[in-house]
Amino acid sequence: MAEDLAARRMSLHGRDLVSIRDLSREEIVSVLDSARKMVPAAEGARPATDLQGKIVAMAFFEPSTRTRLSFESAVHRLGGSCLTIADAGATSIRKGESLYDTIRMLSSYADAIVLRHPHEGAARLAARASDRPVINAGDGSGQHPTQTLLDLATIRERFGTLAGLRVVLLGDLKYGRTVHSLAYALAEFGSEIILSSPDTLRLPEEHREELKHQGAKLREEPDLYKAVREADVLYVTRIQKERFPDESEYRAVVGSYRIDGSTLRGAKPQLIVMHPLPRAGEIAPEVDATPHAAYFRQAFLAVPVRMALLNAVLGSARKGG
Ligand code: NCD
Repeated sequence: MAEDLAARRMSLHGRDLVSIRDLSREEIVSVLDSARKMVPAAEGARPATDLQGKIVAMAFFEPSTRTRLSFESAVHRLGGSCLTIADAGATSIRKGESLYDTIRMLSSYADAIVLRHPHEGAARLAARASDRPVINAGDGSGQHPTQTLLDLATIRERFGTLAGLRVVLLGDLKYGRTVHSLAYALAEFGSEIILSSPDTLRLPEEHREELKHQGAKLREEPDLYKAVREADVLYVTRIQKERFPDESEYRAVVGSYRIDGSTLRGAKPQLIVMHPLPRAGEIAPEVDATPHAAYFRQAFLAVPVRMALLNAVLGSARKGG
């Protein structure tokens, strides 16, 4: 009985995933382990039925290609079905319906809700509105925890570990939610984080403070060439144009960094270049053919990782059950 309770506490069954901080290190490792086993099913080589009879709602109030489609692919590969909002303009939000009401209603149509929203904090609000698990698929500049899981899966697949690596986070560290989630997880697993960004797009003070408090090995290296030479992982991000309150602030930094053959000349042979995608000129296409390019593998791993997560979260019980 006591063991049962302990196992239940460890389990993700029926739980929300709003921030990567909602998961312990052990829980992250267990999702990554089961994702590895899901690869043949994610490739369509082995049919799976774990989500048969389950409905997952995709509530996407912001553009998405990979995140939504890999979530949908994950549900289909597991034999479940999806309800999808891909365009908020086609829903009653247009008529002034609140997010709270939309989510509350969706939670009576589906067994879990995957939400993407332009406002930071939206996923936390949705989790309160829903009696079904809510998975944050990106809330403004806040968090993107499932992206972090697949980023970690990519790193682990290449290096066999998440500890002791040097990871350069490059680009828009101010508005980029992928790095806000990933930095925390890297610190948890004991990898070193090197921040490299244009001065106006530095990681916000509150994140740096929190990471230091967490005991992260963290430093800044604005010189891209120096950062690349040291890196095991170069995690490139897009400038989040849509988050800039002022267009001139964006124009001042656009095109300020780009990875190409010459940037990678001094890199370690084992360096992997990652990117959550979409890229908008930060990685030259010539990098794709090099052994450093890991971003398309990273995009594929979204499917087995999201399969593993949905499998762990979805069951017959209601939230917290
Ligand atoms: C990222 C996002 O939406 O935060 N994309 C993704 O989910 N793969 C990164 C981005 O849009 O730049």
